[in-house]
Amino acid sequence: MSLFGLHRRLRAAIVGHLALFEMSSSIPNRRYANALRRLGFDNPRATRFFDEHVTADAVHENVAAIDLAGGLVRQDPALVAEVLFGARALVEIDARWAAHVLAAWDEDRSSLAAAATIREAMA
Ligand SMILES: [Fe+2]
Repeated sequence: MSLFGLHRRLRAAIVGHLALFEMSSSIPNRRYANALRRLGFDNPRATRFFDEHVTADAVHENVAAIDLAGGLVRQDPALVAEVLFGARALVEIDARWAAHVLAAWDEDRSSLAAAATIREAMA
């Protein structure tokens, strides 16, 4: 996302990245809020952000898909491949992140780089 945002030539890619993020974030936000409640943080101060984004991102989904990505591609149809590239990049990065976290859990270790670095320094 940062790479796309830092280079104007990649503007269509960041549009695709953001559009897909907004189109797919309502359900994860619901899960984050429910997970907090399940872990004993049933307090609006902990869950409000995620609960609010369940509804907000349902609206953002349409804005991102139709107005943002759709609007850009209607203005410049040549950018469609780059919009899709940005969306695909989000899917790939998310998949890599999830695989990393799940592997760490399977191995009963932290998925955080800082924890690994500290452990290596102490060995
Ligand atoms: Fe959103």
